[in-house]
Amino acid sequence: MSNEQWSHGFYKLTPAQRRQILGEQYHLNIADQELLEKNSSALGNDLVENYITDYSLPEGVVTGLLVNGKTYTLPMVVEEPSVIAAANNGAQRVARSGGFIADHQPRALVGQVVLDQIKDPQRTIEWLKDHQNDLLKIANDAHPSMQKRGGGAKQLRIRQVGRFISVDLLIDVCQAMGANTVNTMAEAVAHYLSENGNNVVTAILSNYATESLQTVSCQVNFAQLATKQMSGEVVAQRIADLSELAQVDPYRAATHNKGIMNGIDAALIASGNDWRAIESGANAYASRDGQYRGLSTWQIVDDHLEGQLTLPMPVGVVGGSIGLKKLTKLNYQLSSIKTAQELAAVITSLGLAQNLAAIRALATTGIQAGHMKLQYRSLAISVGAQQNEIDQLVKKLGQQQHVDQNVAKEILATMRKESTNE
Ligand code: MEV
Repeated sequence: MSNEQWSHGFYKLTPAQRRQILGEQYHLNIADQELLEKNSSALGNDLVENYITDYSLPEGVVTGLLVNGKTYTLPMVVEEPSVIAAANNGAQRVARSGGFIADHQPRALVGQVVLDQIKDPQRTIEWLKDHQNDLLKIANDAHPSMQKRGGGAKQLRIRQVGRFISVDLLIDVCQAMGANTVNTMAEAVAHYLSENGNNVVTAILSNYATESLQTVSCQVNFAQLATKQMSGEVVAQRIADLSELAQVDPYRAATHNKGIMNGIDAALIASGNDWRAIESGANAYASRDGQYRGLSTWQIVDDHLEGQLTLPMPVGVVGGSIGLKKLTKLNYQLSSIKTAQELAAVITSLGLAQNLAAIRALATTGIQAGHMKLQYRSLAISVGAQQNEIDQLVKKLGQQQHVDQNVAKEILATMRKESTNE
């Protein structure tokens, strides 16, 4: 059957029917088909189209993350072996130096209604200003429950961008992620503006959440940075140099920020938040002055290293898929986080902890020393090592000058030969 034939109406089939068709088309063996079935769930099928199975990732925790005087255990979901180890490393160095300070986050989402084909921009702007209250009322009437909870559309901002005019609704979504609320409100306003003779290009949430910026900072004692070979002060200076490099070189900045997002994304996934939304907002914010820069900065102040991180963090603790997945709910029990503000503060602190661990490693031993020990476990598994063989294989890989898949395969084969000869 051609792809066009079998994929027609695929979404109408049951997951079992979809698995069967895919199995036939792509020659999946019985074990593969069973794997898909074993990991499938009713919830998954309710959440996405063309559902076939659940794809799982490892979950671990960062412990002892000290933020505003409170110690958190924060679940993280990520497949990269070194991320959770690095998060714990960074979090503990900062905790021993007094912890993170997180500012109180102002929280509003931005809904954009964009107009085009504007004959007289000045007149349109005047008209919009005159109708501000009407527009806010239309937005709030489209989602009255938000206003009842003390939130809702609070303010209108009008921006002329090239030939367009963007009518930005600043909306307080209380404890929710809020994308649906914002889109509903923006579309209601768009409808009204169209009816009043405007040409609306789009009405949608903006992920550039500049009205939900979260700032966290920390002061790290030199003693917490030292290695056997290097004094804490030297390490601090090297970290400050790396921070400066990330401010001037986009190539380094992208990697610097990837290190921050390693932690942030992992915690966002575990908390049921939309990590793509936070990623895109973070990257836009990193380019806010026209050049892409590191999101965090580190500098020596007196006798310690001071770090700071600011980025848009419009997270929620209700809404979206948060209430649906049992494991997500359980994760909130582990973290004891109750409000969106608290979650934003803790996740951003984790980002700075993650960044500290990464650039401390770069400033000292280099990243591979710590990474490779953990990567060797993945390598061992990928070449077929069984549970009882992994530790031994990882140890042997650590003794090699050069390691790759072939080396791992050879060592594993030798280990097996030796054990059958014993
Ligand atoms: C790897 O996942 C992340 C790092 O590359 C971050 C950095 O270079 O700062 C180690």
